[in-house]
Amino acid sequence: MTAATSETTRRLGPAPDPAILDPAERMSVDELRATQLERLQWTLRHAYENVPHYRRAFDAAGVHPDDCRELADLARFPTTSKADLRENYPFGMFAVPQEQVRRVHASSGTTGRPTVVGYTEKDIDTWATVMARSIRAAGGRAGDRLHNAYGYGLFTGGLGAHYGAEKLGCTVIPVSGGMTPRQVQLITDFEPRIIMVTPSYMLTVIDEFEKQGLDPRASSLEVGIFGAEPWTEQMRREMEERLDIQAVDIYGLSEVMGPGVAQECVETKDGLHIWEDHFYPEVIDPLTGEVLPEGEQGELVFTSLSKEAMPVIRYRTRDLTRLLPGTARPGMRRMEKITGRTDDMIILRGVNLFPTQIEEIVLRTPGLSPHFALELVTRGRMDHLICRIEARPDCPPERRPAAAGEVAKGVKDIVGTSIEVQVVDPETLARSVGKLQRLADHRERA
Ligand code: DLL
Repeated sequence: MTAATSETTRRLGPAPDPAILDPAERMSVDELRATQLERLQWTLRHAYENVPHYRRAFDAAGVHPDDCRELADLARFPTTSKADLRENYPFGMFAVPQEQVRRVHASSGTTGRPTVVGYTEKDIDTWATVMARSIRAAGGRAGDRLHNAYGYGLFTGGLGAHYGAEKLGCTVIPVSGGMTPRQVQLITDFEPRIIMVTPSYMLTVIDEFEKQGLDPRASSLEVGIFGAEPWTEQMRREMEERLDIQAVDIYGLSEVMGPGVAQECVETKDGLHIWEDHFYPEVIDPLTGEVLPEGEQGELVFTSLSKEAMPVIRYRTRDLTRLLPGTARPGMRRMEKITGRTDDMIILRGVNLFPTQIEEIVLRTPGLSPHFALELVTRGRMDHLICRIEARPDCPPERRPAAAGEVAKGVKDIVGTSIEVQVVDPETLARSVGKLQRLADHRERA
């Protein structure tokens, strides 16, 4: 954890009565491991027998599903990458006949073909179960009104949250993303207790409250469930203070299921508990592929344990984190809040830098808003990073140069590289409705 993280005082919510948890949430580690092994053996056989890609990959690696006698044997099986899914576009990774597939989703990615994923009826029910568990872990309860501003459609955010909220017994307001003034109106009129949305779009909605002369702290919202992109402890504090809510982190990815793979519990806010009865995590060294011990940082890899339509074996997420023992749900391991993806990492003149490191610095600099954008350019033969940050509306103009200097110095001190910082007028940078794209790469390629 960085120094910036530890200085944050977390405001915690109440723990749920254990009686309302799913049985799996109360399993001991031993019970959970036994369940996982049985489900893993089924998954390996199911993938090998029904997906030509897995049969070829296992055969090439000289392994067979029967070789998996304990959980550690999984490390002998080959990993799966996004490229494997793309090569089998659109439906080649499905393990059941088409008529058993009830729904598909797709993630567009930034390059190439989309990645297509499929669900049987049982998969949709499992997904709703883990999402309901996630909303409850965040502090949601049956009977709550829930404003769902994750995008509906091929993105898994909207429908994933929707089914989970219904399963928990919430009243869902299926707003989707966009039309920001209407988001504010619906929150004001329908008085939801919970909001689900990307953290970057939450900020845009908070700004809109203020533009309309409304106090966001006076809204009915008590819980925000934020995910689909990295966000920092500083961002948590910003949203909790401006909206007077509990802000908790939700993680997931379409290839593994969608949102609801892991969830932060509101009573501890100390990383995300992985719903391990359905998703088996490993952390590997991204360069060598070696499995790392608990506590070491590396690339997160998931194997689905119950998925029928599209089992995934050792899927490389590209997300960087580490595994930690369970706390609020002692049987389930936690993953530390994600700092970035291997492909978000900016290598600037040999130094590695993540946008989240800049976010931490920006948010603790007085006068600066959380809205910033990064641009990589080539000048002469050198790469330069320009960071444009909006001033807060109440930031006096004479404060701006000093604020820019503080951010540049913070980056130099913490990351060890020089960047150019410009403080710009409020409301001048583009806003995102769904996932935020912070970096524009305009470098000249040699
Ligand atoms: O973003 C699913 C989702 C929807 C998660 C709504 C949470 C809330 P994809 O579009 O497939 O699925 O993108 C998955 O998003 O590999 C991470 O890089 C990133 N991501 C998701 N949640 C978090 C998070 C959805 N809480 C990719 N923190 C993942 C950091 C996250 N990154």
